[in-house]
Amino acid sequence: MRDPLKDLLNKKPVQVAIVLGSGLGEMVSEIIPEVILPYKDIPGFPTSTVEGHEGKFVLGEWKGHRLLAAKGRFHYYEGYSIEKVLSIIEYFHDVGITHVVITNAAGLINTKYPKGTIFRIDDFIDFTKKAAEAGDLTLAKIRDHEKKAIDKAAKISGVNIGSGIYVWTTGPSYETPAEIQYFSRLGADIVGMSTMPEVIRARSYGMNVYPLSCATNYAAGIKKEALYHEEVTETALKVSGNMKALVSSLLTVINQK
Ligand code: HPA
Repeated sequence: MRDPLKDLLNKKPVQVAIVLGSGLGEMVSEIIPEVILPYKDIPGFPTSTVEGHEGKFVLGEWKGHRLLAAKGRFHYYEGYSIEKVLSIIEYFHDVGITHVVITNAAGLINTKYPKGTIFRIDDFIDFTKKAAEAGDLTLAKIRDHEKKAIDKAAKISGVNIGSGIYVWTTGPSYETPAEIQYFSRLGADIVGMSTMPEVIRARSYGMNVYPLSCATNYAAGIKKEALYHEEVTETALKVSGNMKALVSSLLTVINQK
């Protein structure tokens, strides 16, 4: 079967891609599309994503920038192997992507920051012990030029960002309060169930990677109130304006280079 997206990108390549995490998914509706390709139409691609919506690639123009967006990602807790989880990054590599913005929703551990803060992820703690399947673990750490690009974008957009360490857990359940206290003592700022293997694999291919988290909820036990799933989408939606402003400035910074 022919892949219309790969055919087009062969003729007219694109440099930048974005993985849209919870809360940023609706950004695809703002893209003026050249090609929309549902994952289910790609041979060998995993079929379902956790959101229950169909996952897809959208190539097109957003705020004056041509980009390839992936809506819907694959999580280890869905039962996929790490290789399957990495299908989107592998696809980016196949089509010659050189810069990738990776977004997600995460639980907030470090209360120095308010709920809803967008974080630049500087490094990871692997609570799954699976990340090495994605590549050299030292690639988890952000490089200076990636850090600078995100900081410049934060300045241009006027969005106050946080920065710190993301703990990758398998999920699918949230954590216990004791686990969160343990992560906090280890120096973690946020916690989530994705992104770490994607970052490592993308950097192992030489891509420039810009990992961003939206801290959508206080992690378990941080506040008295119980954590509920809707809070993740609610907060992500509330701060999606900030996320879009930051990402749009980041695309400007990347494309200036
Ligand atoms: N824990 C783990 N993953 C998450 C959380 C959380 O509190 N919020 C969003 N993703």
